[in-house]
Amino acid sequence: MVRLGVNVDHVATVRQARRAPEPDPLEAAFLAQEAGADSIIVHLREDRRHIQDRDVKVLRKKVKRLNLEMAVTEEILKIACKIRPDQATLVPEKRQELTTEGGLDVTGNLKKISKAVKRLRKKGIIVSLFIDPNLKQVKASTKTGAQMVELHTGCYAEAKSKKKKDKELTRISRAAREAKRLGLEVSAGHGLTYRNVSRIAKISEIEELNIGHNIIARAVMVGMKEAVKEMLDLIERRMG
Ligand code: PXP
Repeated sequence: MVRLGVNVDHVATVRQARRAPEPDPLEAAFLAQEAGADSIIVHLREDRRHIQDRDVKVLRKKVKRLNLEMAVTEEILKIACKIRPDQATLVPEKRQELTTEGGLDVTGNLKKISKAVKRLRKKGIIVSLFIDPNLKQVKASTKTGAQMVELHTGCYAEAKSKKKKDKELTRISRAAREAKRLGLEVSAGHGLTYRNVSRIAKISEIEELNIGHNIIARAVMVGMKEAVKEMLDLIERRMG
């Protein structure tokens, strides 16, 4: 059965918009776990636009399985080695991007990435590399000592025509098969939604899916009626 990792970054995005205590990503993580999520994912970005250092510390203590998305920088590597999440997913990071764009260039940064993998693995952290579904990147990933790769599903998610979607799905399937053959565990994520997830979930080599934005977006809508009713109840009680 495919595992589900839920990324709660955007709960923190809403909180940071008001610098308020709510909504709390930890509370969201507990609810996600209760609903059956296998792991909780957060991305501690260099600019701290959503998740803060203290969130990672608290989540580490309280959730069953924490997957920390992180850039390969000295500052974040030090934090990861100290906090020791269950898993670290290395991602490329650009300051201006709205979300992670493209996978890691493992072939072009083999030495730097291998060093980071070694440091993290020494602390007992499982390391995954977020890569495009490209055979060269898969092959290079095996040389770094990482145990896992996460295949970037963004191009599949964004493809407008059926032809392009099918082509992207084939690329992902091929990369997943090759990664598994080379001994890597395979996960996938980015841009997955309630509409496009099922074809990716059917790829047998993919053991874990990591989803954030669309689940948080849906959670807001699913919870809206309940939230308004609760507020109305309070107002009526006060007035009555
Ligand atoms: N996997 C990785 C490596 C990511 O960087 C992200 C975005 O934070 C996701 C999965 C989740 O993507 P989305 O928010 O589009 O579901």
